[in-house]
Amino acid sequence: MITVLVTGGAGFIGTNFVYFLRKNRPDWQVINLDLLTYAGNLENLAELQGDPGHIFVQGDVAHRGLLDSLFVRHAITRVVHFAAETHVDRSILDPAAFVRTNVLGTFNLLEATRQAWKQVPEQSGARFLHVSTDEVYGSLNFQDPPVTEDAPYAPSSPYAASKAAADWLVRSYFRTYGMPILITNCSNNYGPFQFPEKLIPFSLSQALEGKPIPIYGQGANVRDWLFVEDHCRAVLTVLEEGQCGETYNIGGRHEQPNLELVGLLLAALQELRPDLGDLKRLITFVPDRPGHDQRYALDTGKIEQALGWRPQVSLAEGLRRTVSWYLSHAEWLSRLRSGAYRAYLRQQYGEIVL
Ligand code: NAD
Ligand code: TYD
Repeated sequence: MITVLVTGGAGFIGTNFVYFLRKNRPDWQVINLDLLTYAGNLENLAELQGDPGHIFVQGDVAHRGLLDSLFVRHAITRVVHFAAETHVDRSILDPAAFVRTNVLGTFNLLEATRQAWKQVPEQSGARFLHVSTDEVYGSLNFQDPPVTEDAPYAPSSPYAASKAAADWLVRSYFRTYGMPILITNCSNNYGPFQFPEKLIPFSLSQALEGKPIPIYGQGANVRDWLFVEDHCRAVLTVLEEGQCGETYNIGGRHEQPNLELVGLLLAALQELRPDLGDLKRLITFVPDRPGHDQRYALDTGKIEQALGWRPQVSLAEGLRRTVSWYLSHAEWLSRLRSGAYRAYLRQQYGEIVL
């Protein structure tokens, strides 16, 4: 039996990945370590209650003693590290938590893993996969070619800089200690369980309440959209078949300017909820994000050629599936949109979005 430590498994991608693993690798044991910050939600994992293949541990990836005890208690030979502070706008308001979790947390996890795996035999196939972001490569111009894995790092926001720092630490453990690491840099994910602060679920939840949908600047910034299920499949493929020490870009092959993306999203919502009326009227241009990266775009030739992975879900299908998931999880959404989240919205956007 393989025991995998998944960090951040109560957040958006982590939740999807834990379900993906339980479905596709039912004989694996999942130890799910998550601090349950504002972005983590145990309710996401309700369907795994009573499942002996999933053990949830509430705790901090920066807590070395806790990590050591997990490695003593469980024969962990795979680590998939999702836990992070992830929202660019929050990193602009308050970067400290980003350095603590993304840099120090990753460092502590690397150290605990290095110590624990000194005794692990090579045939165990031990692997440490760090989930990172396309934002480490920095902003592209509209006409630039997509970036390959050897592009220089040029992070703009405190979030991107903290992920870049973590990537280099992870790489150093391969070069220096021969630790079996892998890094994936993915583009913007979307799909079920995404916390409503991010563009797609935020726009959806505002639209459902008939409230303004804020678009930064002119809405011309371009992101590449990856359906979370395609991402989960890519992460498992890299974990099982990737070459240690290597980095793999994972992109959706769906670049869109923000304004057009929100247009497609609202059209998908209107199809299912024609009663909501003309939703485009809610689009509201607001001042731009400081240091807002113009465009991200990934060259995904390496993972496609070396490992045979390709995204399978089209943007139209992914948006349809996302919209219908949020429509059928209205209570999940409304519970998240109360309390501290409203205070964040007020701080980030002012009264206009409330
Ligand atoms: P998320 O914000 O939805 O979830 C993060 C999870 O990490 C939460 O459950 C939170 O409770 C947990 N966490 C935070 N600090 C922790 C700590 N100190 N110890 C333990 N757990 C902690 O994030 P996500 O969107 O699911 O992103 C997962 C990973 O993927 C992150 O590393 C992120 O940088 C990367 N990524 C995400 C995207 C995207 O579009 N969402 C794109 C590129 C890369
Ligand atoms: P976001 O979902 O925060 O992801 P990231 O910043 O990591 O790419 O934002 C996606 C894009 O949408 C980004 O260009 C910023 C823009 N955006 C808005 O225009 N308005 C919003 O309210 C938010 C949250 C994002």
